[in-house]
Amino acid sequence: MSGGGRDATARHAVTLTSLAAKKGDREPIVMVTAYDHPSARIADEVGVDIVLVGDSAANVVLGYDSTVPVTVDELLMLTRAVRRGLQSALLVADLPFGSYEASDEKAVRTAQRFVKKGGADAVKLERGGTSVDRARAIIRAGIPVMGHVGLTPQAATALGGYRVQGRTADDAERLIRDALDLQAAGCFAVVLEAVPAAVTALLAPMMSCVLIGIGAGDATDGQVLVWHDLLGLSTGHLAKFVRRFADVRAEAVRGLSDYARAVRDHEYPAAEHTYAIPPEELDALRARLQSQRQ
Ligand code: KIV
Repeated sequence: MSGGGRDATARHAVTLTSLAAKKGDREPIVMVTAYDHPSARIADEVGVDIVLVGDSAANVVLGYDSTVPVTVDELLMLTRAVRRGLQSALLVADLPFGSYEASDEKAVRTAQRFVKKGGADAVKLERGGTSVDRARAIIRAGIPVMGHVGLTPQAATALGGYRVQGRTADDAERLIRDALDLQAAGCFAVVLEAVPAAVTALLAPMMSCVLIGIGAGDATDGQVLVWHDLLGLSTGHLAKFVRRFADVRAEAVRGLSDYARAVRDHEYPAAEHTYAIPPEELDALRARLQSQRQ
């Protein structure tokens, strides 16, 4: 087993400046969620730009049926594990539902915990409205913020479920306003989720900060997907925008079934998986056990 501390010299660290430069150069930005150390190491190894410890951990890791119940402490533990696996990607931590909405002070305190204890480089929060004030307060406290508009899972009940947003002119105008407000508050990036591609195409030229899409078409500066969705680890309904780039679950089922069969058939462990003891030590041990039994 190998560990992995942070070695900033190993590869150029992704910074807010380098992300802005990529946007300027029209070089697509790659973002993915991760929730543990081995996944973070893989994301870093393939050169992902931004790793998000999303509150989607609630669903895909912790088995809750929405993102609402996940706590700061649960996400903090995952954030620390991801931090230990990253050397160059920018680490963004989601502020969970109920941890930032009540006041600017609460939002700043929670964001500081994710930076100080979790090792996050930035935090993400959802929606416009009062979240814009919270974003501004956190940024004033020196912590970079990523906004999130469109389908915002923390407000799924209020939005009428997990559905496409911005399908009417009123709704689209509202979400464009939210994105622009978050940008004006100083967010370095905004995630746009489940929005018609034509609406994204109207919004994108208005954004000077980085615009990351998920189910929002290709007019954004980059894309984000949930780890378990893109690698084929999640079960159940998949959103239309998800593309499966691997079927890791099928491979895990195959491997685990083979393991179970091998154990039941006494085929595993074989001689090559066992440790030896020098024969004279074994003889001495046998003699001692024998004499203790008499
Ligand atoms: O929690 C999450 O995974 C997210 C992404 C879908 C952007 O917010």
